[in-house]
Amino acid sequence: MSSRDHFTSRIGFILAAAGSAIGLGAIWKFPYMAGTNGGSVFILLFILCTIFIGLPILISEFMIGRRGQRDPINSFKEQAPGKPWYTVGWIGLIAAGLILSFYSVVGGWILSYLFRALTFSLTGKGLNFALLFNDLITNPWEAIFAQGTFMLLTLLIVQAGIKGGIEVASKWMMPLLFIFFILLFIRSITLDGAVEGIKFMFIPDWSYFNVDTLVLALGQAFFSLSLGVCAMITYASYLAKSEKIVNSAVNVAAMNIIISLLAGLVIFPAVFALDYSPEQGPGLVFIMIPAVFEQLPMGSILLIVFFILLLFATVTSSIALLEVVVAIGIGNKTQTRKKATWIFAIIIFVIGIPSALSFGLLSDLKILDKSIFDFVDYLTSGILLPIGALMISLFAGFHYSKKISREEMQSSPFIYWTWLIIVRFIAPIAILVILLNSVLG
Ligand code: PHE
Repeated sequence: MSSRDHFTSRIGFILAAAGSAIGLGAIWKFPYMAGTNGGSVFILLFILCTIFIGLPILISEFMIGRRGQRDPINSFKEQAPGKPWYTVGWIGLIAAGLILSFYSVVGGWILSYLFRALTFSLTGKGLNFALLFNDLITNPWEAIFAQGTFMLLTLLIVQAGIKGGIEVASKWMMPLLFIFFILLFIRSITLDGAVEGIKFMFIPDWSYFNVDTLVLALGQAFFSLSLGVCAMITYASYLAKSEKIVNSAVNVAAMNIIISLLAGLVIFPAVFALDYSPEQGPGLVFIMIPAVFEQLPMGSILLIVFFILLLFATVTSSIALLEVVVAIGIGNKTQTRKKATWIFAIIIFVIGIPSALSFGLLSDLKILDKSIFDFVDYLTSGILLPIGALMISLFAGFHYSKKISREEMQSSPFIYWTWLIIVRFIAPIAILVILLNSVLG
């Protein structure tokens, strides 16, 4: 896409935005966060945060991007000259870079698993999948090599400008992934003892209801909807005026919730039926997916296809992250784009190395009682994304006059007023309270 092309079709935009949103957040992070935070309560809070805070802010990002028609920093500078709103762009740059630094570590795990699946070393009776995962993440060379390869893949796609092609391909890759999840769900739910997993997901255990869970659920909603880093502002800057942003936002949020739940419905019944623990942490999906495939006929072949699809979903998000960093980093200096893409990618790769090593070599190194990987995750989802989202919410709510925002929303008065009250008061107060609690508490 050249700098000011527009999406030729509505579906093109939804695909790009949904592609950026749906990725490791829904498929990898959601199940493991739910698993370590009591399941049901986390899931409920995640859905509430998505609908009542995430969705209105997603609409705001679409609004700001479409009105600005530029990269985030220049969008804010032009729409609010002489005011400091453009700092949201810098927060976005830092947050997106940090997210990509550990995202690429997990992307690397997918490559490693794909390689193992291709050599059929992920199947076979009696394999201990937890041990297998552990072998992989504790091997420093493999972890770094895989992470680097994933970064290279992301970089080459962003640099070659074939993002559009990738998004078009995801038009059928994503539905295919969806069908796979349904298939896996059916297998998982029909295992003996699977109901326990469903109970874990849907019968609330209120002892987990506390501020920590709330912070994590809110962070998860932001992370998985790609909010607070200006990613959606960037995408919407290519959007034509005639599009209905509310509909697009509802679609993206709904798809994200559905895929998240589906990922949980595949993982948790199997966790309980096959006698694993839901509290495996970041390895949960990597441990459980091969375990479920083992229960399927032709599992070893299907597993290969699955990891290819998962890689695809992951890459459509990682290119969005790198794109944000590059777009903000170079601003108007578009002629330096190629060089900048390489430089940023290398910096992000280097920043990610400690995260890659934090499961093995550096596992004793803790910041605030967290491993490096967990700390970078917390710093982004728990702090930077909420701050970015808070500022975006205030910008859309107060900087725009009601006349402007109503025009942009093109929706019924009820929807408009609900949105306005949320972005002006409810979302900012909720985010602030949650943030303060998590930082001070
Ligand atoms: N939403 C993406 C995912 O869930 C991650 C992401 C965050 C992408 C922020 C872009 C911007 O995988």
